[in-house]
Amino acid sequence: LPICVRDLVQDAPAIGQSIKINGWVKSSRVSKNVAFVDLVDGTTDQDVKCVIRPPSLLPKDVSTGAGVQIAGVWSQGKGKQSHEIQVTSDPGSAVKVLGSVEELYPLQKRNHTSQFLRTIPEYRWRVPEAGATLRLGSRLESALTSFFDTNSFYKTHPPMVTSSDCEGAGELFRVESASKLSSKEQFFGKEAYLTVSTQLHLEVLSAALGRVWTLSPCFRAEESDTNRHLSEFWMLEAEISFVETVDQLTRFSEAMLRHVGQRLLQHGESGLPEIAKARWEMLAHGKYTQITYTEAIDLVQRNSELFTTVPQWGSGLGSEHEKWLAGEHFKGPVFVVDYPVEEKPFYMKKNTDGKTVACYDLLIPDIGELIGGSVREHDLQKLELEMAARKMDAGPLTWYLNLRKNGSVPHGGFGLGFERLLQYLSGADNIRDTIPFPRAANQCTC
Ligand code: 4AD
Ligand code: MG
Repeated sequence: LPICVRDLVQDAPAIGQSIKINGWVKSSRVSKNVAFVDLVDGTTDQDVKCVIRPPSLLPKDVSTGAGVQIAGVWSQGKGKQSHEIQVTSDPGSAVKVLGSVEELYPLQKRNHTSQFLRTIPEYRWRVPEAGATLRLGSRLESALTSFFDTNSFYKTHPPMVTSSDCEGAGELFRVESASKLSSKEQFFGKEAYLTVSTQLHLEVLSAALGRVWTLSPCFRAEESDTNRHLSEFWMLEAEISFVETVDQLTRFSEAMLRHVGQRLLQHGESGLPEIAKARWEMLAHGKYTQITYTEAIDLVQRNSELFTTVPQWGSGLGSEHEKWLAGEHFKGPVFVVDYPVEEKPFYMKKNTDGKTVACYDLLIPDIGELIGGSVREHDLQKLELEMAARKMDAGPLTWYLNLRKNGSVPHGGFGLGFERLLQYLSGADNIRDTIPFPRAANQCTC
């Protein structure tokens, strides 16, 4: 492959070497004796400065956004940058236009708002600050992969199309055939949905491979038009055999996030807002708190003047309560454990009080809920009783119930919203700026 800007920045060639580099013009200036081009190629937020003498070597149609190939000599930098490429009239030096820019190119100017950038999905990621978030997302996925690899997990690919509603919240998108070749609508005549969570399938796989994880798209037909909800998001889910307590899961989740923070402090991305690094530091070395749901409700009620609504024991925490607990109050990640049975899905194991389940949510500052997880009910009879009490149709879940008939062992797991974590780690205000093509209420334009 041709050399990229990241190669040049990380491992600078020897001074005096001939260099041919491809990229897009971030900015250009022409004066009487010299022209300057700052070149980016997306492999890093940093740019390479090209000094062109005489300026007539710069083709007329080179403006911001143009694709170019620049050949010159790698030299000691004279300005802020340590190095620059000098382009002269010597043979081997040249500026070649690969793709010019129309007058209406929307990124001619700097400092576009993220609202505006969302209206041009085909160009928005070229803006260095926007691109930095996607680059960080790629680092984040590597950090998570290395954590699971070193903890004896296997990554697996559960299906996106499913016949069951894992969370039982009725937030499913139905799958239908649009093919003229198929006389049957639906999924070959069967009722099928896009998955809201791959947990139930992961439970099958953890009963075979011991420890499994996945990072896969999940879909939710909720019309929450907020800065932390997407209709299509990626969920990291882990399912672990022989886990018996919530504490095992919260300690494991904490270790995972500390590992992520440490990895980013070592190999994170540049070009992000100041707050990003402080948050990596918080995940790596900050304090994590654990409280029960009952204690959380008590805290919220004792500070009722801060909220627009105040929940009673038995109802869920709202986003304002979650953000306050992790933000102003504990100033760091908070595990809230043992929620009321009615607040959570059918598959969670009941605690001995009969009123709460062995589960947890992890709340983080500014975002609120990042992780939801639990110990699963592995006893067939208890699970069937719970499903009956909830008036659930057991038919579509026969396979899941069968799992409890043979070699059913204690196990548990969790799901983490990948974009919510990236939102926190990148400092983005809106989750729609953390996924390349956001699908959310009223947003699916390309
Ligand atoms: O808490 P949730 O609904 O948990 C589950 O689905 C479990 N079955 C997971 C498991 O135990 N394997 O979702 C898990 C996480 C949430 O904490 C949140 O971070 C994220 O998924 N999430 C969303 N992220 C973006 N947009 C949405 N609409 C989301 N809904 C959930
Ligand atoms: Mg949840």
